[in-house]
Parts: sequence; structure tokens; C-alpha cells
Amino acid sequence: MARIVLGIGCAHTPQLHTPADKWDIRAKRDIADGVPMWYHGERMTYADVEGKRRHLNFLEQSEMSIRRERLAKSYRAVDQLSEIFAAAKPDATIIFGNDQAEMFLDDIKPAFTIMGCQEFENMPRTDDQKTRLPPGIELSDVGHLPDKDTSVYPGHPELAKYLANFVTLKNFDVAYSSRQFHPDPTRSQLGGMPHSYGFIYKQIFREYVRPHVPIDTNTFFSPNQPQAPRCYALGQAIGEAVRAWADDLRICIIASGGLSHSVVDEEFDRDIMQAMAKNDFEHLLTYHEGYYQAGSSEIKSWISAGGAMQGSNLKGQIVDYHALYRTPAGTGSSAAFMVWQ
Ligand SMILES: [Fe+2]
Repeated sequence: MARIVLGIGCAHTPQLHTPADKWDIRAKRDIADGVPMWYHGERMTYADVEGKRRHLNFLEQSEMSIRRERLAKSYRAVDQLSEIFAAAKPDATIIFGNDQAEMFLDDIKPAFTIMGCQEFENMPRTDDQKTRLPPGIELSDVGHLPDKDTSVYPGHPELAKYLANFVTLKNFDVAYSSRQFHPDPTRSQLGGMPHSYGFIYKQIFREYVRPHVPIDTNTFFSPNQPQAPRCYALGQAIGEAVRAWADDLRICIIASGGLSHSVVDEEFDRDIMQAMAKNDFEHLLTYHEGYYQAGSSEIKSWISAGGAMQGSNLKGQIVDYHALYRTPAGTGSSAAFMVWQ
């Protein structure tokens, strides 16, 4: 019988691999170009967010020395998670992640996709793809992409197929793929796996590469974003499937992404992590969908992972948390790290 031996929740924000003095490239974009933001479950402009949060002194917290200190502590937390991963010696890994228009463009965006490929390619961007990136993103590619040549990571098709069938019989109509989906290179910004997975390959797996099953949720894009309770229920079904798998496998569950960004909401993040650590999903699921939009939608991967941990007897614990602020409105990314052991 398979069992879950470890759970990991890990932020994957590009800001983690952007030097502190270059955060202002993205800060300028937050302030100037009118990208809609979500704060306390509502969509608003940058100016509105700044107006509501002026008293919180984010300018002080985005000073260079604080930026550097928080980045250094975040790197240490990622190192710690990677060491815990290798020490747990899992036979296989299930990664709850999301595509950010890297793999699925506007041709098709499945709500949930379980990927059962033999191998997954993590590919550097082509020069042409780099020209289509928003400002400041290429700088952080080192966090999730290979430098020069394509890297290949093993999948676990047998486990993936089993999981897809198990959850389908529980009324989750998931998409399933046995060949990696490569988008049209003339329209895409990336040819290989989305950064949600590339980050885990490079920062958590490192040298200790294990066969894995990516479970992708369309957290970001309307009109078919699964809602948080559904993500939780899918996670529970995956946990149940693992426990019912005949082979004696040691499984690690990983949630990639989150927590709140691009408006960082520290209070909300801490509440989410504490609810996860206490298994208080009744409370966690009281937040409405407005809280899970844009970057913060990736919290849904944590919610799925938390669902999968139910019945595992492992205990959730916060490893570290840092708010990486880059503007007076407190935009930027949160860097949240958690384990279930
Ligand atoms: Fe992301």
C-alpha cells in the first residue's frame, strides 16, 4: 500500500530569483501600467490599494537591506525544504501546480490536468520567446529554467493513469495527457514545463530527482477556474487514491506557488498557513473566490495539497514566511514555506 511520507508547500515567485535592486522593474509596472489587482477579495487599481494601506508603511519594509535580508532567509528556507525532500527519500512525487499561459494558451485551458508522460522537458526560452516577456521576468529565469540545454525529468505514467482513473470514478472530470503539450512556439513565451514545475525541479529536486506526476489546475484564468472547495475535494480524492494504490510506494505531495501576490496580504497568508497546519479547512474555505485571483489563485494548489494530506497522519508546520514588498502599496510576492512530516 502506498503512503504519503512528506508534504511540501513552496512559493515559486520569480521575485525569489530577482536581485533585490532589480525589484523596481516590476514595481514600476505595478504602479504604472494599470494591471488590475485583487485585495481583500476585490478587484481594484494600484492607487486604490495604496490608498487603503498607506498607514502600513510598506515603503520602509521595501528598503534594500530588508529586501536582501528577506531574500536570504527565503533561500535558506528553500534549501531546508530541498534537504527535507532528499532525506525523506520518496519513491515518487505528486506536484499540484498551475500553468500561467506557458503551456496552455487560448487554444484550450483544462480546469484540471493530470499528466502521465514518461518524461517532461524543461526548456530554456528561445530568443524570440524572450522578446514576448513582460519586463523583469527574464532576469529570474535562472530559478526555474535550464541555462542552455533542455533538461529531462522522469514522470510516473502508471501512477498518473491510476490517479486520473480513480478521481474520475469519484466524479472529477479531469483532463489526462500522456504526451507533453508544447504550445505554438511563435505565440508562446516558453516551450517546456511551466515555472510552477520548473521551480520544483531546480530548487527542490536539485540532484535528487524523483519520478513525478504534475497535477495542473487552471487557477488563473476565467472562465473555468475550479473553486477552492473543489480543489480541496480533488486533493482529498488524490490522498485517498494514494492510500488505495497497491504498490508499496513512498509519496511526497508538493504544492507549488502562492501565497498572496501581487498584492501581498500577510495577515491572510498567515491565517491560511495556520488553518492548514491545524487542518481547519472549514475556516479556510470561508474565504470567497475573490481572495483566490491573479497570483493569489495559486493558493488553490496548497488547498489541494492540504486535502491530500488528510488521513496521512502527518503534521503541518510553517517553515518560514517573508513578505517581499516592492512598492508603497505593499505589492510584490509572499515567500511561504511549509512542510507536513
Ligand atoms: Fe506562478
